[in-house]
Amino acid sequence: MNRERIAILGAGGFIGSHLVPALLAQRDCDIEAIDLTFDKLSNTDARLHRSLASVDQPGLLEEITARCSTVVSLTALCNPSLYNTRPLDVIDANYTDLVPLVRLCAARGVRLVHFSTCEVYGRLALDAGGHRTSTMNEESTGLFLGSVDRERWTYACAKQLLERVIWAHGAHGGLDFTIIRPFNVIGPRMDFVPGIDGEGLPRVLASFMNALLRGEPLLLVGGGGQRRSFISIDDFVGAIVRVIERPSACRRQILNVGNPDNEVSIRELAEAIASVYAARVAGARRAVFREVTAEQLYGTGYDDSEQRIPDVSKARSILSWMPTTTLPQMLPAIVDDYVARYAPCFDAERVVLPHAAWSSGP
Ligand code: UGA
Repeated sequence: MNRERIAILGAGGFIGSHLVPALLAQRDCDIEAIDLTFDKLSNTDARLHRSLASVDQPGLLEEITARCSTVVSLTALCNPSLYNTRPLDVIDANYTDLVPLVRLCAARGVRLVHFSTCEVYGRLALDAGGHRTSTMNEESTGLFLGSVDRERWTYACAKQLLERVIWAHGAHGGLDFTIIRPFNVIGPRMDFVPGIDGEGLPRVLASFMNALLRGEPLLLVGGGGQRRSFISIDDFVGAIVRVIERPSACRRQILNVGNPDNEVSIRELAEAIASVYAARVAGARRAVFREVTAEQLYGTGYDDSEQRIPDVSKARSILSWMPTTTLPQMLPAIVDDYVARYAPCFDAERVVLPHAAWSSGP
């Protein structure tokens, strides 16, 4: 009998580079890994087949949906600094380029495991009547985005529309799908360091590591009072492997995957990372925290979620899964990974490399 064949679009990114080895370790499957780079995916398993390609390459989606029984779609432009600066690219990457994939999966009976985002919930958790709730639930929470001129919500809106397309193909066309809404997944290999392996502003964890490695201030937007729930990449991948293993239970389900117990303010995260860094890096400079406005860091059109706590009761019951890793447990490995990969790129005096303008801001 032929082995199960799974395509993973975006397999070379942060989540993909953790998911691929976990799947190969736990399942007898072939994996077709598609991405523009595989620098983060060093696995040499013979069942892993890499293709350097973009999802909008003509014919690519037709080929993989002809060969694979499951497609995991991870490709995205998911960095908030892009939402108000490259909104059309964000809409294409998160919506336009993926509509053909949804259609092909529906037409060919291919299972689609699609990664959406917790950003679809918007600014804060509200129930159907507009009343504030503590957690975000897949069915009972409304989706509260900002006005069109707040371009921050371009991404959430594109992601939400694709969810609706997927849902419609399931409800009216038989598409077998599962939609995952990740809540701030962090771990080794996340994002990039500006000026070294990427440009612009990475997400918050990488921004703080970048600042620590350069000996620059950690920038706290609006003072860092906004709150996020962080889940370790290992707990997260544990859930995703179960999603892939349980097609019937996860059929046509939308699942929050996050860790409600790891909710902290951005300032608390900054202080926690800085103290782990100081404890593990010989000669580390004392961390400095600097308050900046959203406009200074992101430009006009930025907006924010003030708090995001997932309700994970559905994922817990369908997947028999629970996230267990605390922030103090996960931060040392993350700091060590960044130091190992990037510290050699800086000279001994921590000379500041030229990068974004805000580094010399107020
Ligand atoms: C982003 C994406 O938009 C989501 O799709 C994704 O699910 C999520 O990351 C994730 O990592 O899972 P967000 O949490 O707003 O959402 O993005 P971050 O860049 O990680 O920012 C978190 C908070 O830290 C924001 O309030 C931001 O303003 C703040 N921040 C960021 C700082 O205070 N300083 C920084 O240097 C960077």
